[in-house]
Amino acid sequence: MLLHQHWPLFGLSVRTPTLELRYPTDEQVAEIAERSVTEGVHDPAYMPFTIEWTDLPPPLQQRRSLQHHWAMRANWQTDSWTCNLAVVVDGVIVGTQSVGANDFAALRSVVTGSFLFLPYQGQGIGTEMRAAILHLAFAGLGADMATTGAWQDNAQSLGVTRQLGYEREGHRRMLSRGAPREMVGYRLERAAWEARRRDDILIEGLEPCLDLFGLTPAAPE
Ligand SMILES: CC(C)(COP(=O)(O)OP(=O)(O)OC[C@H]1O[C@@H](n2cnc3c(N)ncnc32)[C@H](O)[C@@H]1OP(=O)(O)O)[C@@H](O)C(=O)NCCC(=O)NCCS
Repeated sequence: MLLHQHWPLFGLSVRTPTLELRYPTDEQVAEIAERSVTEGVHDPAYMPFTIEWTDLPPPLQQRRSLQHHWAMRANWQTDSWTCNLAVVVDGVIVGTQSVGANDFAALRSVVTGSFLFLPYQGQGIGTEMRAAILHLAFAGLGADMATTGAWQDNAQSLGVTRQLGYEREGHRRMLSRGAPREMVGYRLERAAWEARRRDDILIEGLEPCLDLFGLTPAAPE
C-alpha cells in the first residue's frame, strides 16, 4: 500500500475490450525478461530494435531487461519520463507498451514503443495496445502529438502505425548490427487521433499519477 502511495503508477491501468495495460510489479518485470527469452520477440535473423538487447545471450538478456525497467523507474523525472506498461490479455502478460516524453507539460508530445512475445504477434494485439497507449496520451494526459519510428522493413510495426492514421515525417540512416539502415519516423496529431477516437477505452488510476507526468504542481514542501 505504501508503495502505491509513493509510486502511484502501480495503480495505473488502461483497459480496452480485449486487453489491459498495467504498470508491472518487479515480479512481472522478471516474467517479461524471462519470457522475452523463452518465447522470443522476433526472428533472430531480423533486428526490429535500435537498442539490440535481444542479441544478448541469456542470462545477460534477462538481467539487462530488469535493469532497463528499473532504469525507467529510477530515472523518472517530471520533465523526462518513460512509462513502460505490461500488456495483459485474459490475465496473461503478452508484451510491453511504453510511452515517453521530455518536457511534456510544455511540448505535449509523446513517443511510443512496444513489443509482443512471438506467439502473440500478428493477431491485432499490437494495434489494440497502441490504440490504448494513444488514448492514455491524448485523452488522459492531454497530448497534442504522438510520434513513433520503425525500420523501413518492419512491416508489422509500420502496419500498426498505418492503421492508426499517423503521417510520415521522414527517415534517417542509423546503425543496426553494424550496418546502415533506414529508420522511418511517423507522427499522429491530435486532430487525426480525434477523428478515430474510441469510446470503449477506460483509464483508471491516472489522477494520483498526474504530477509524476509533470501535469500538476508538486505539493508544497
Ligand atoms: C510490432 C508489433 C508490436 C505489432 O504487433 P502485432 O500484433 O504483431 O501487429 P498486428 O497484428 O496488430 O498487425 C498490425 C498490422 O501489421 C500487419 N502485419 C502484421 N504482421 C505482418 C507481417 N508479418 N508482414 C506484413 N504485415 C504484417 C497487419 O496486417 C496489420 O496491418 P493491417 O491491419 O493494415 O493489415 C509486434 O509485431 C512485435 O512485437 N514485433 C517485434 C518487435 C517490434 O518490431 N517492435 C517494434 C519496434 S519499432
